[in-house]
Amino acid sequence: MSEIKLLAGNSNRALTESIAAYLGVPLTKCQVRRFADMEIFVEIQENVRGLDTFIIQSTSFPANDHLMELLIMTDALRRASARRITAVVPYFGYARQDRKPAPRAPISAKLVANLITRAGCDRVLTVDLHAGQIQGFFDIPTDNLYSAPVIVRDIKERLDLNNVMVVSPDVGGVVRARALAKRIDAPLSIVDKRRERAGESEVMNIIGDVSGKSCILVDDIVDSGGTLCNAAEALLAKGAREVYAYITHGVLSGGAVARISSSKLKELVLTDSIQPTEAVRVAKNIRVISIAPLLGEAIARTAKEESVSSLFD
Ligand code: R5P
Repeated sequence: MSEIKLLAGNSNRALTESIAAYLGVPLTKCQVRRFADMEIFVEIQENVRGLDTFIIQSTSFPANDHLMELLIMTDALRRASARRITAVVPYFGYARQDRKPAPRAPISAKLVANLITRAGCDRVLTVDLHAGQIQGFFDIPTDNLYSAPVIVRDIKERLDLNNVMVVSPDVGGVVRARALAKRIDAPLSIVDKRRERAGESEVMNIIGDVSGKSCILVDDIVDSGGTLCNAAEALLAKGAREVYAYITHGVLSGGAVARISSSKLKELVLTDSIQPTEAVRVAKNIRVISIAPLLGEAIARTAKEESVSSLFD
């Protein structure tokens, strides 16, 4: 592996340090702080000329600040003659407006992809993009890693696979849920939310027999927690024995943690793509598993020009 430089933005210091420990590479000295008026100040304090550089930064809350840090760090590396700049974005925010379903809607995911590319990144490494096609919004090589191997290992260690049912919390997530069900050889069920008439509240229909099952809800994002908590209620009402949720990105805005803590979810398992807040760390039914080894291995393979997709064979 040629010499690599790892740089940390302020979004997820804990994950960055775990990746650095996995790779046995110290973090490059770099200041990313604020001017008095809150503009971002960046200074890279080591030589990076001709080197293979990786900036680790999730564009999580506060998304605008973290995105801007990533762009300015990229600019600093480019002007310092880094040989290659890879944006490692464990959580790619601004992914939820990824098409134009109505007139005058933006495609924010494409705009952010353009910003990252124009700032000077040569590659992107990300995890469980909200929609697979966002990979194609980048005109630079982009690896979309899957957290599935990490999640599958945890499920196998903790649950009785003979009695589990993988559940998609909505019709849009069926492909993701089906892939997990296949990996653990479990049946699949779907929560089908329908509003029968305008103005009436949504009805949750469960497709599949969940009675007596340990259900595993799977999704890419938990934000307000509404989707998960409502799905858990509906599954228990249909006779499910218990409900777990495995979610890649714990956005958890507003009162989401309180909502989940007081819900009927037995456990919510998140990855550390977004740095857990103190509230998440102390919540009784939330647990965090790390994708640092997955990202560390992908970085090592990128640096050695080896296959990254074979990580998922
Ligand atoms: C939707 O497309 C996503 O996959 C999640 O289901 C959604 O973002 C979850 O949002 P919330 O937790 O606010 O219900």
